[in-house]
Amino acid sequence: MSEHPQASCSYWIRTAPGPSRPPLEEDLDVDVAVIGAGVAGLSTAYELARAGLGVAVVEARRVAAGVTGHTTAKLTALHTLVYDKLRRTRGPEGARLYARSQSEAIEHAAALVDELGADCEWETKSAYTYACDAARVDELRAEAKAARDAGLPASFVTETGLPFPVAGAVRVTGQAQFHPRKYLLALADDLIARGGRVYEDTTVLGLEESTPCRLTTGTGATVTARDVVVATHYPIFDRALLFTRLSPRRELVVAGPLEADRDPDGMYITPDEGTRSVRTAPYGESGQRLLIVTGEHFTPGTGDTPARFERLSGWAREHFPDVDLTHAWATQDNDSTDTVPLVGPLHPGARHTYVASGFGGWGLSGGMMAGQLITALITGKDCAWRELYDPRRVRTAVREAPSFLKHQAQVARHFVGDRLRQTTSADAVAPGEGAVVRADGERIAVHRDDDGHPHALSARCTHLGCLVSFNAAERAWECPCHGSRFDIDGKVIQGPATRPLEQRDL
Ligand code: FES
Repeated sequence: MSEHPQASCSYWIRTAPGPSRPPLEEDLDVDVAVIGAGVAGLSTAYELARAGLGVAVVEARRVAAGVTGHTTAKLTALHTLVYDKLRRTRGPEGARLYARSQSEAIEHAAALVDELGADCEWETKSAYTYACDAARVDELRAEAKAARDAGLPASFVTETGLPFPVAGAVRVTGQAQFHPRKYLLALADDLIARGGRVYEDTTVLGLEESTPCRLTTGTGATVTARDVVVATHYPIFDRALLFTRLSPRRELVVAGPLEADRDPDGMYITPDEGTRSVRTAPYGESGQRLLIVTGEHFTPGTGDTPARFERLSGWAREHFPDVDLTHAWATQDNDSTDTVPLVGPLHPGARHTYVASGFGGWGLSGGMMAGQLITALITGKDCAWRELYDPRRVRTAVREAPSFLKHQAQVARHFVGDRLRQTTSADAVAPGEGAVVRADGERIAVHRDDDGHPHALSARCTHLGCLVSFNAAERAWECPCHGSRFDIDGKVIQGPATRPLEQRDL
């Protein structure tokens, strides 16, 4: 008997389903085409429309329903432990620019909420990075100092609102949290009112970089645009081999109502125990709060996800005994090898194509920042942090080699090692489970549904050919190499893959 709620779509999506947008069915000619309607894509399109450009957003699935719709929705410039590292790898000025760029993005979003009258549950809160392990106190003190030197209102504290003692914490005041879909749906509405276009259920399959650029889509319609922005979380077009600099990371979320007097009143994260993140949100009419706990990060397609949900739920109940866990979902992030997002030209020779990726779990402030930065690049305005985030920045052995080598070794292990993996037979796959089996010299991904019917697919990921693995908690096939995800019938849930897993007969 499971001790955690069944994983499904996020609380944000349930409580703000939003209107459907039409697929793209006719050829289109615009100034800028934005691929992806998450926070980075919509923020970019919105800023461009405000700058007077004709914009179209093309989304493979639904607006703000991918990673953005599954995040914990913290808007803060405190990104766990980033400033002490940035100070060393990018210098004090790099750390200052990072803090300023993230803070200005949040301030800009707050101003937009006022301007649009967006009812998105915006709340100003302090953000904390805490640790219970006394051995981490020096690290936290160093982070507090580095964050303060970078310009944030940061301090080292030992008291927090959490219902358990901590060894120490970095606190940054004046940060924010909100309902991400309510905010982004309001942004999409205003974008359309300004003449922008938003299309759903339209997968972009090809990008021809020319003057102008040309996109081909799964509906058969094409988009011609002077500039193209690839904002698909993990880039679906990647001439610069950015995939060698990005590692996918999946994280689980459990949530449930909590009495308001138990609210820890802040946004918390700890690097302990494979990350634990805590915030609350307004909940219902009764004045309760929704406790949202995130953690258990792991490479997609690896590990026992049901057991991870159990562990995370156990942690939430241990520390908040009164919570009634009612929701569970998961989200996914991409970590860049040097911790700094990749925002700017798509590749060294790019003149009219741009990318935004690698937000490392901080995609809300990062995506909003990307919207402002890419708009500055397209409209020819200066931006003080363009070099900091430029994806063409030179990789240095000191700052990237360890995580680059680790990631490449992992990918190679999955590409080769997974092919040597022991397989079971299709008959041995129990209802609700999935496994990769060998048949006719091929690896077949077999899931058996609750009625006992098998669903068989090619197990080769359509991105670059790694073998997928089954996630039993979310009933999805996941690729450990770059994080593509597919439903039990092979349809793409998350890129960089754009084509479904091929159907197979058993
Ligand atoms: Fe790249 Fe599967 S996501 S090979």
